Amino acid sequence: MEDEAPSWLQSLHVSTHFLTFFFFIIFSCLSYIIYIHSLKLKLWCNCEICHSYVTLSWSKQFHNLCDWYTHLLRNSPTQTIHVHVLGNTITANPDNVEYMLKTRFENYPKGKPFSAILGDFLGRGIFNVDGELWRFQRKMASLELGRTSIRSYAFEIVNYEIERRLLPLLWSVAGNEDGVLDLQDVFRRFSFDSICRFSFGLDPGCLELSLPISEFADAFDLASKLSAGRAMAASPLVWRIKRVLNLGTEKKLRKAIKLINILAQEVIRQKRKMGFSAHKDLLSLFMRNLNDDTYLRDIVISFLLAGRDTVASALTSFFWLLSNHPKVGAAIRSEADKIIGPDQEVTSFEQMQELHYLQAAVHESMRLYPPIQFDSKFCQEDDVLPDGTFVQRGTRVTYHPYAMGRIEGIWGPDCLEFKPERWLKDGVFFPENPFKYPVFHAGIRVCLGKEMALMEFKSVALSLVRRFHIELATPCPIPRFSPGLTATFGSGLPVLVRGRTIT
Ligand code: HEM
Repeated sequence: MEDEAPSWLQSLHVSTHFLTFFFFIIFSCLSYIIYIHSLKLKLWCNCEICHSYVTLSWSKQFHNLCDWYTHLLRNSPTQTIHVHVLGNTITANPDNVEYMLKTRFENYPKGKPFSAILGDFLGRGIFNVDGELWRFQRKMASLELGRTSIRSYAFEIVNYEIERRLLPLLWSVAGNEDGVLDLQDVFRRFSFDSICRFSFGLDPGCLELSLPISEFADAFDLASKLSAGRAMAASPLVWRIKRVLNLGTEKKLRKAIKLINILAQEVIRQKRKMGFSAHKDLLSLFMRNLNDDTYLRDIVISFLLAGRDTVASALTSFFWLLSNHPKVGAAIRSEADKIIGPDQEVTSFEQMQELHYLQAAVHESMRLYPPIQFDSKFCQEDDVLPDGTFVQRGTRVTYHPYAMGRIEGIWGPDCLEFKPERWLKDGVFFPENPFKYPVFHAGIRVCLGKEMALMEFKSVALSLVRRFHIELATPCPIPRFSPGLTATFGSGLPVLVRGRTIT
């Protein structure tokens, strides 16, 4: 070839690349060692917990990492453990949870290490920031989500989605012998549509995208999974190197994030086209106050994540639990018949609040299967937790709602049983202390979509339980979760659906 460089020049190029790569590795290793040293983390630790973590020997006995952590936390006298190689203190002690989420909130921010892990995916979105950026987004979102009229607005959207999309889909497969449906997938699509209409005032169907919406949903799942993988790695060095070199999982993550950004940008573009000055949805409010499209894009992504995966995860676990507890389904139907009327539908948010058993059942389901199984902060200054655990500056401190739901000291000897009755006193639902049940976080950063999420969860649950028999297509005695930011059944939830005559 004419323009081919002489061979000595080519080898010089190769050598220069090799040297750059070599120095990059050396520099990264040194930075990492300094980082480890500054946080006084252990590169290697032979204690039983760390050994089991690093060698994955825990997986011989436990199906999921969260089950192994639960076992360790149940057996710890303080309900707190420390994984040295991760520099991670993990607690299931409600006093510690209150301390970190409320009493000493300022000392337990999300922190820089997390912003780095999730930064590519979530950018400056509310889930990934502290300080002024967080305060601004929280204030804006609270203004919108705190309005009383938001309840009926959310109720209308959810019921429209149920009537027009969810029920027709389930009826189309009901009674069909080979009509196996992945309920987890159905719930994800449903909650994606609902959150887009609720937060952005848009039907995803009206977006002008070059690819089907399912590709974006897949990209979302992948980005969530791969970002969570970064957080679980004993050393951040590996993903950082792969990121610079655009290799393996980091290459896949970059591609997935690119697609997600296209979706978020299209949401903003459509909103501009439709006009946002008179609209009352969350995105319009942000757009009236911000001119920075990258920031808006990050906000859109955080709200998609908040509303889509969590609600879908809660519904998936609920229907898995119901398949083993038909009596709970029957009690939900019987309460609805009594309060609303046998062939009547719930007509308002307020009427939904009268269904105490249903409220108890959804809370009980999330006690055992919280959509966000654990949540971490980073300790800013040396501290001592209420149970006496010393926490060094820079330590990652995680509270673990999944383990907390399984601790006898918190929920009693029947803590492993699915018993909605534990939330009822004389038939009336009583909420629990949020630090004992931090499923929606608690304290100063408590979830802003809790009311909306509960209403959506209950509306879907009630509609399906009253209309269909739903049974598992393949036995699934124990859920196996795949890694991700929200709990996800690794093999979905394949079910068979049959219609039921409304009584
Ligand atoms: C069953 C469903 C849901 C559960 C279990 C849940 C749980 C949580 C949890 C644990 C957090 C804290 C996360 C963190 O520290 O990173 C959180 C934060 C948040 N959630 Fe939810 N959530 C649900 C649904 C929703 C929905 C539907 C929305 C929106 C409409 C929403 C909006 C938010 C927002 C904006 C935050 C950030 C609050 C802040 O950082 O100040 N959530 N949620």
